[in-house]
Amino acid sequence: MKRLIVRKIILLFFILSLLLVLSELSIRADNKIVLHCADVQSSGYPTVEGLLYMSRLIAEQTEGRIKIAVYPNGALGPEDSIIDMVRHGVLDMGRVSLSQFVKINPNLEVLLLPYVFKDDSQKWKVLEGPIGNNLLEGLSKSNLMGLCFYEAGYRSFYNSKRPIFAPEDLQGLKIRVQPSPIMIEMIDFLGASAVPIDFNEVYPALRAKAVDGAENNLPSFLSMGHYKAARYFSFDRHSSIPEIVFISKKTWNRLAPSDQEIIKRCAKESVLYQRKLWAQYENASYLKLQHEGCKFNEVDIEAFKQRFKPFYRMYASKYMSIIDQINQIN
Ligand code: GCU
Repeated sequence: MKRLIVRKIILLFFILSLLLVLSELSIRADNKIVLHCADVQSSGYPTVEGLLYMSRLIAEQTEGRIKIAVYPNGALGPEDSIIDMVRHGVLDMGRVSLSQFVKINPNLEVLLLPYVFKDDSQKWKVLEGPIGNNLLEGLSKSNLMGLCFYEAGYRSFYNSKRPIFAPEDLQGLKIRVQPSPIMIEMIDFLGASAVPIDFNEVYPALRAKAVDGAENNLPSFLSMGHYKAARYFSFDRHSSIPEIVFISKKTWNRLAPSDQEIIKRCAKESVLYQRKLWAQYENASYLKLQHEGCKFNEVDIEAFKQRFKPFYRMYASKYMSIIDQINQIN
């Protein structure tokens, strides 16, 4: 444990030194600007491709003066450190799951609730309407600017022991969750044991049988290799937690207003591209995983929704007004 902490401190120190050097180079003498951006997903994954597309749009619209250098594969550390580095201005930008922002903006927690959206069309109306804009703006208190949401599909359970058809089937399983209090409570509530682990450490934990399974979308299940250690994937689709692309206020304030406008516009434009890519990637992942011999099953979603009702009553009371607003959107 001690060795792990020392290794983490050394890694963080290394990353910080690297970023300090990089940030010195960000605005160069020839007025070219490079914005450094971290993502924990692997090269080719739709979020990483969305950022690269955004970078191409920005470069086109500034005649090559501004571009984004994207660092995928968790090369700059886990999601909570990405948020911290961007907050402190040692890193310019990041793409991180919304669940990781709850510590700094508790209102975002409402979007982690199970089955909070009716479908994708309602979800995107929420994210791109006043509710989503307010939630992104709420990040500004923490020195961050939310630029846009990206698609992350639906999260479902997968494990190495058995198919899950109804909530009772989760009893006794050790399930990895994103480090977030509500995710932990949600899994414990279902009778499983929640084990919070950083995303890039999940595969080793599955391999070592420190956990029996996890919950995530199909593309992450494939791209992170989780399917090699947990063959049963059960489509309960309990949540749809969007991704957030964000930039440091420190970086933002150094940019000319006209450049800020271009970045905002290109971020929004990259969303449609990323969503299209997501749909293709998700279908291709399903086919690939089927070919790899994964065992898929549909679940009794109504049973899950019923099971979550008391959980909703416990959690949702503080978010009732946002939930009402979400329910009014069709
Ligand atoms: C999704 C998301 C990641 C996140 C991961 C997780 O795959 O894209 O950014 O970290 O979920 O479960 O931790």
